[in-house]
Amino acid sequence: MAVSSESPQERIGVMLVGLGALASTLVAGVEAIVRGKARPIGSLTQLYRCNGDANNALLNEVLPMARLQNLEFAAWDIFPDSAYQSAVKAAVLKPDILESLRSRLEELKPFKAVVDDKNSRLLTGRHVKSGTRLEQSQELEREILAFKEARGLKRMVLVLCNSTEITQLMGEEAESIQNFENGLKNNIDTISASMIYAYVAIKLGMPVINCTPSQCLEVPALARFAEEKGVPVSGKDLKTGQTLLKTILAPGIKARYLGLTGWYSTNILGNRDGEVLDDPDASKTKINSKLSVLESILEPERHPELYRGFYHKVKIDYYPPRGDNKEAWDNVDIFGWMDYPMQIKVNFLCRDSILAAPLVLDLVLLIDLAARTGWKGVQNWLGFFFKSPLQSHQTKPIHDLFQQHGKLEEALKLLRKASPPATPKRVAVAASH
Ligand SMILES: NC(=O)c1ccc[n+]([C@@H]2O[C@H](COP(=O)([O-])OP(=O)(O)OC[C@H]3O[C@@H](n4cnc5c(N)ncnc54)[C@H](O)[C@@H]3O)[C@@H](O)[C@H]2O)c1
Repeated sequence: MAVSSESPQERIGVMLVGLGALASTLVAGVEAIVRGKARPIGSLTQLYRCNGDANNALLNEVLPMARLQNLEFAAWDIFPDSAYQSAVKAAVLKPDILESLRSRLEELKPFKAVVDDKNSRLLTGRHVKSGTRLEQSQELEREILAFKEARGLKRMVLVLCNSTEITQLMGEEAESIQNFENGLKNNIDTISASMIYAYVAIKLGMPVINCTPSQCLEVPALARFAEEKGVPVSGKDLKTGQTLLKTILAPGIKARYLGLTGWYSTNILGNRDGEVLDDPDASKTKINSKLSVLESILEPERHPELYRGFYHKVKIDYYPPRGDNKEAWDNVDIFGWMDYPMQIKVNFLCRDSILAAPLVLDLVLLIDLAARTGWKGVQNWLGFFFKSPLQSHQTKPIHDLFQQHGKLEEALKLLRKASPPATPKRVAVAASH
């Protein structure tokens, strides 16, 4: 199947669910890059050089990707703050860069959020839609269509970057789209806000990216609905910070045939995400997402002499003074030749949203390409970007970052084969720094 071509003027809607630290850092970063005030460091779509290409071409020169200047952002949030106010509160970016982008960021004001009672108890915001789940979903649909029309958008992508939700046991409403729609009518309380946003997007043919750990696109009714509607979806929970390092280190330990007796990980973070994660139910969703990676990389069932029964513990603590500047500590107990024990200590002082924002940009541009190529349902090749990669057709998720990168490169080659001839260079990568 061929990728549809991209004209220089085509505008793409990026509909952000949640306008918090991550979303505001993304919007500010894209604007700063377009104005030549910042560089897109951390973004594969902007910096990847194509292997074996005589001209050492950038990926965005050989694939017909949307241009950064043509991304049009909209958002929903339970707080009415504009992207500027939200970015100031999140305190990820320096005041001088925010001031220089202020008027543009102030233009982005969120629509009222879809809410569900179980998750809204975790936050105090009241910029919310009223009515039943069905009524909220109908209002959402009208908003999306009106935004598309008003901005003259060719295509749209929905990005879930709202607060982490509680994981709930679902009943028959999860089984088919008819049951799910009945659940909306009957206002069934296991249908979360994220699921309503995703449902409406899929119904309207918009690709969906779940940057959060919340249960949503893996609900069978929604996963099948995406297949039926021919819509690509991907998730979940962006791989930044501690899990990124874990999935870089663990394959190295395995490649050297070193053993592991335990891996203790703890984090402190003080942003709004951390505040929500202070709730044990929400924190369980996040910790489960972080725990799955080691078993899958080390395969203790294949290497029992090295990895049987290793102890893995993950903790997250809310600590307001740190804001978005998360700190993670890892203690890794390994053993080597003749069973001699050794330890690795990792202390990562990262900036969560600085690591996450380029991943969202990449996901938007790549899933848009997938949609234009006719790829539908869960996009396994985008697992590279996620802590808990969703998989289609019961395939096992891959967590090893290097294997994930290999899968991504295979898909990029297919996209390149399916693309029209290369276009001239379109994005200014270099900026004063
Ligand atoms: N920031 C990162 O680097 C990062 C990395 C990996 C994963 N994530 C995940 O992405 C999500 C967002 O992270 P963040 O750091 O921006 O958090 P944040 O708390 O700063 O932002 C989340 C925003 O979602 C809003 N919100 C809550 N419920 C909503 C609803 N029903 N509809 C619309 N908006 C709603 C909140 O008011 C808030 O503004 C979290 O789930 C987080 O776990 C973030």
